[in-house]
Amino acid sequence: MRILVTGAQGCIGAWVVKALAERGMEVASYDTDPDPARLRMIAPPELVRRVAREAGSIEDTARLKALVREGGITHIVHLAAVLMPFCQAQPVAGAVVNVIGTLNVFEAARDAGRPVRVAYASSAAVWGPEEAYGGGRLTEDDPLKPSTHYGVFKQANEGNARAFFASDGISSVGLRPWTVFGVGRDRGLTADPSLALRAAVLGQPYQIRVSGKMNMQYVEDVAETFVRCLLAPLEGAWVFNLGGDIVEMDAFVRILERLRPEAAGLVTARGPQVPVAWAMDDTQLHAHVPDIPHTPLEEGMRKTLELFEALRRRGALAANVSKHT
Ligand SMILES: NC(=O)c1ccc[n+]([C@@H]2O[C@H](COP(=O)([O-])OP(=O)(O)OC[C@H]3O[C@@H](n4cnc5c(N)ncnc54)[C@H](O)[C@@H]3O)[C@@H](O)[C@H]2O)c1
Repeated sequence: MRILVTGAQGCIGAWVVKALAERGMEVASYDTDPDPARLRMIAPPELVRRVAREAGSIEDTARLKALVREGGITHIVHLAAVLMPFCQAQPVAGAVVNVIGTLNVFEAARDAGRPVRVAYASSAAVWGPEEAYGGGRLTEDDPLKPSTHYGVFKQANEGNARAFFASDGISSVGLRPWTVFGVGRDRGLTADPSLALRAAVLGQPYQIRVSGKMNMQYVEDVAETFVRCLLAPLEGAWVFNLGGDIVEMDAFVRILERLRPEAAGLVTARGPQVPVAWAMDDTQLHAHVPDIPHTPLEEGMRKTLELFEALRRRGALAANVSKHT
């Protein structure tokens, strides 16, 4: 078993690589970014050294195919993507990375010369805004009405995964996270709760750029869920909602202030509601994949604050400049 993780230097990627390497699995990472900076924040140097690194872009069809075929890859966790703000600003460039890049991953799996399983990140952004639905928890059978280019691209990827199973028998699992939070989350609109936790530890003011509700999922759980979906012997093109804890941003700030009283008044939340329905039913995921973890929101926030605090103490936090993209 040899596992390729695309987008491995990103937030979820770093935690997925850590979860795989801790199981003793052979991991190869692929990303335009050669620097495992996020993995270094959460894993010991010995683990970081064990992960093979390849710098390259997901749009490079020939390179990706060669990597999968010649590298003996049997499993792929596909996370490489650009996020919602980038896709809204540059839909063409966003589609090349997110849609063509995902097609490349599936073509590389098809042409590997051996069976290759794929777990890939879809997104809750395949849902439209809350007003587009009648309330209640959305199941995988509800109609997708994405209102952003990013969500439309993710919907296309789910469709292409189905087509690759129908025509080539490639089994895959797509997961739909909403707001993943924790150490390493610093890109995309929904990075703000994590950036706020980081600012609180640094004693800096921070304004979360959105308000209203988010469905929040602790990054370590999300990474573990990707790994469990990758290793589950599911045949077909599966797509699963991912559960989490729904919270108003003002309530998030109150929990933060309770966990870290010295940060009182530093963090505020102002801006629009993220245009994605927040209540997802994850019965299907639990029915098909055993032992999906769930860290309650407050516990995940506490763990994140502790990890940021440990990084701050060893001088490894201030250098991690946040990227508002
Ligand atoms: N974080 C969330 O809340 C969330 C929610 C829903 C879905 N997702 C999806 O999960 C996946 C990972 O998200 P993340 O939060 O870790 O994002 P991230 O931005 O932290 O990581 C993405 C990684 O992909 C890499 N990448 C970007 N363009 C690339 C390209 N052209 N070729 C190769 N690598 C490229 C980046 O360098 C980065 O390391 C993405 O597919 C994202 O759409 C994330």
